[in-house]
Amino acid sequence: MTNADKNRNQRLRQVKKENARRFKEFKKAKKRKIPESEYVTQMKNQDNILEIDGLHTFFYTDVGTVRAIDGVTFSVPRGKTVGIVGESGCGKSVTSMSVMRLLQEPQGQITSGQIRFAQRKENRAIDLSKAPQKVLEKVRGGEISMIFQEPMTTLNPVFTIGRQLDEAIQLHTEKMSKKDIAAHSVEMLKTVGIANAEGVYKMYPHELSGGMRQRVVIAMALACHPDLIIADEPTTALDVTIQAQILDLLRNLKDKINASIMLITHDLGVVAEMADYVVVMYAGRVVEQGTVQDIFHNPSHPYTIGLMKSRPNILGSEGDRLYSIPGSVPNPVDLPNYCYFHNRCDRCGKECEGPFPQMVQLSDTHRVACYKALENQKEVQK
Ligand SMILES: Nc1ncnc2c1ncn2[C@@H]1O[C@H](COP(=O)(O)OP(=O)(O)O)[C@@H](O)[C@H]1O
Ligand code: SF4
Ligand SMILES: [Mg+2]
Repeated sequence: MTNADKNRNQRLRQVKKENARRFKEFKKAKKRKIPESEYVTQMKNQDNILEIDGLHTFFYTDVGTVRAIDGVTFSVPRGKTVGIVGESGCGKSVTSMSVMRLLQEPQGQITSGQIRFAQRKENRAIDLSKAPQKVLEKVRGGEISMIFQEPMTTLNPVFTIGRQLDEAIQLHTEKMSKKDIAAHSVEMLKTVGIANAEGVYKMYPHELSGGMRQRVVIAMALACHPDLIIADEPTTALDVTIQAQILDLLRNLKDKINASIMLITHDLGVVAEMADYVVVMYAGRVVEQGTVQDIFHNPSHPYTIGLMKSRPNILGSEGDRLYSIPGSVPNPVDLPNYCYFHNRCDRCGKECEGPFPQMVQLSDTHRVACYKALENQKEVQK
């Protein structure tokens, strides 16, 4: 065994020991009764339903700490749709799992930051990052619903669609008779465009196609009239024509239900059609955010500009090869202390040697973390 191997093994043993200590502490902390004073708070802006503020979510693995979310801040305004975009592995799902507090424990932990969620009745907010399980259970499915990429993540194969929808409604509504709940379930199936709603109510998930199952999941997500819907790649697992139908459905519902939507996708086309605001993530950080117009007409971070170029529908002529941003995302266990996009950036200059760039405000709505933001904007506008 070489000296380098020995050092590495020693380091890994140290990591394991340190993690074991952390997990023990974490388990102990979970048993503690959390007083309201630790999680009841106020929204900074009453127009928002969700405010994520300086969020850090780490995974303590055997090879080191994965800094999956490394200081993320953005808000979801009431009744609006916010698209979260970025390549695979940039932290989109971990952001949503942090909000829902469904991280893989004890490895995944929110280490700092706030996730403020406005309460419907009282004039107060709950910090979901610190709230106890009992409070989270009330919020999940009742005030915040989630639509996953794969419908079978939500549906249970051994129960009928009707039973599952009924249960979802029953859990979060008070004093409804069985008959009324069943009628509400059928109504929800009709809302999501299922023609044979009474028939589907009695079916099992395996009897439905992928697109139909995702419609059912959307019905479940809407059934309790949530204030916020988190949709994590809701159309990615479906084939193209069905994708378009489900997007149409979400777009139509968006105006009817008056809920806010956090729409996670790697597909900028979906964002352009659905979102009011866009958050661009890279390696666990927000690198650019703004209105959909800001991001599509004035992309200012070289990463956003790269994502735009890799969209299939802006190819010059047919047969051109699809552009893809060269290089890959840095290792989340060993992130550099300078701009994370440095090794892939075609605009990188001398000024980029400094620490990770601060957010620059380009307008009231548009912010970007890049040393050359203003310059890049001029280039794009030419
Ligand atoms: N359970 C886990 N254990 C360790 N690392 C994880 C875990 N879940 C996610 N990660 C890491 O967190 C980062 C962000 O992942 P994710 O949010 O799933 O990306 P995406 O943007 O594709 O949804 C990735 O580097 C991923 O490897
Ligand atoms: S700070 Fe520099 S290296 Fe980073 S994205 Fe901007 S131009 Fe590129
Ligand atoms: Mg994901």
